Amino acid sequence: MTTDDRTKIAEDALCRYGFCLIGGEWIAPDDMDPVVEFEPVDEQHIDFLWFLLESRPKDACISHTKMPTMREHADFVRSKPYEVWYIIKDRSRSDGDLVGACYITRNNEIGVHVHHNFQAQGYGRRAVRKLMSMHGPRKWLANIAPLNDRSQMMFSRLGFRKLQEVWVKDE
Ligand SMILES: CC(C)(COP(=O)(O)OP(=O)(O)OC[C@H]1O[C@@H](n2cnc3c(N)ncnc32)[C@H](O)[C@@H]1OP(=O)(O)O)[C@@H](O)C(=O)NCCC(=O)NCCS
Repeated sequence: MTTDDRTKIAEDALCRYGFCLIGGEWIAPDDMDPVVEFEPVDEQHIDFLWFLLESRPKDACISHTKMPTMREHADFVRSKPYEVWYIIKDRSRSDGDLVGACYITRNNEIGVHVHHNFQAQGYGRRAVRKLMSMHGPRKWLANIAPLNDRSQMMFSRLGFRKLQEVWVKDE
């Protein structure tokens, strides 16, 4: 038996146990992530999602530069606009703090927002990996604003590559 055969057998076994290969790393099945926990978005999260939206930095925005009204925001949340939409929580925190939110659009685009108090602690990366392991495999997309270096860096380290640039003219 060659090394390639052995590698193939090991990879098949990992797949059978729910592991998946993302960005060159084997990721444990969803319920094995020791940190990140997802809670499906519903009515009770409208205020937190508003708070996240308000705190979104300008360089992270592509399409929405103006804040909606609270009523528009609540209607948007209730309209179930995404394939899946989750609140990100940390299982190890006893204070029950909500860390951020992430979603998959019906066009396979991943969106993620970690509240600024919790950024640069690994939550964004873990949340995206968890989304992909729960809802993949498929061809994933991420729309990232050109000045959003953090997000570009995060997605590139997760194995994403730049596909195209979209230009726009406002009239
Ligand atoms: C982009 C964002 C989701 C990253 O989440 P995060 O939890 O802060 O990031 P993580 O701690 O998981 O780090 C993931 C990678 O992001 C990059 N990153 C995170 N913080 C960074 C910082 N302060 N400076 C530069 N790069 C940074 C790094 O590449 C990092 O990987 P590394 O730790 O291996 O170097 C988060 O900054 C955020 O919510 N920003 C505002 C909303 C947004 O831009 N969403 C993305 C829209 S597509």
